Amino acid sequence: MSPETVVLKLGGSVVTEKDRPETVDTAALQRAVAAVAESDAALVVVHGGGSFGHHHADEHGVSTTTGTRDPEGALAIHDAMVELNRAVVEALQAAGVAALPVQPLSAAARDEGGALSLATEPVERLLDEGFVPVLHGDVIAHEGEGVTVLSGDELVVALAPAVDADRVGLCSTVPGVLDDAGSVVDRVDAFADVADAVGDSDATDVTGGMAGKVRALLALGVPAQIFGPDALGAFLAGEAPGTTIAGGPE
Ligand code: IPE
Repeated sequence: MSPETVVLKLGGSVVTEKDRPETVDTAALQRAVAAVAESDAALVVVHGGGSFGHHHADEHGVSTTTGTRDPEGALAIHDAMVELNRAVVEALQAAGVAALPVQPLSAAARDEGGALSLATEPVERLLDEGFVPVLHGDVIAHEGEGVTVLSGDELVVALAPAVDADRVGLCSTVPGVLDDAGSVVDRVDAFADVADAVGDSDATDVTGGMAGKVRALLALGVPAQIFGPDALGAFLAGEAPGTTIAGGPE
């Protein structure tokens, strides 16, 4: 039986120290990398911005919907993400994972309405050839806006159908979707189930927080899990830790 195909997002706050600008959380990255190295799955890895992307995006007033035409600002955001990407790819390679970087700035764009197009063929082909493509949140061309932020979550949603993913995992610093009492919700079948509990994103996160994740994964039609770093090994071993987002056609 061929191995399952899995798209895994490592949240920026999982692999960086969110309160210290441009600092990799080396210990946390190593733990994540060790879990990935154990996996038999055909993996596509996506990572977020954490302390590399978000403060640059904030500084230049860029979000997923509001862009900039300042090339230096755009490059500052992109460069920070490329630097983090390099750290992730090198850590994976050092653990024996055949990781290679894929940079969305050169492969994705948005139309005026914000709809994303992503050239997925390089990712598909790398995967077929036994590599682990590692993509990252980035800035991308956006019709009428200059460049806007592309989040790792959006990449996951775009990539999962392209690579015919069997499962999707979002590893973030929280152990799943939390209810009003702070307990992990086992399963979400519709946004209304958790609408009251999932508030807006915190101030430094320019790309949507838990509500956006849940909405996007529900629409995806591929089984998805949201879980914390401690559960990454279990997820990659085929278990369903944290919150299951059922998804599927509406
Ligand atoms: C953000 O990506 C990328 C930039 C700010 C350029 P994400 O929104 O996926 O990052 P995290 O996971 O929340 O840190």
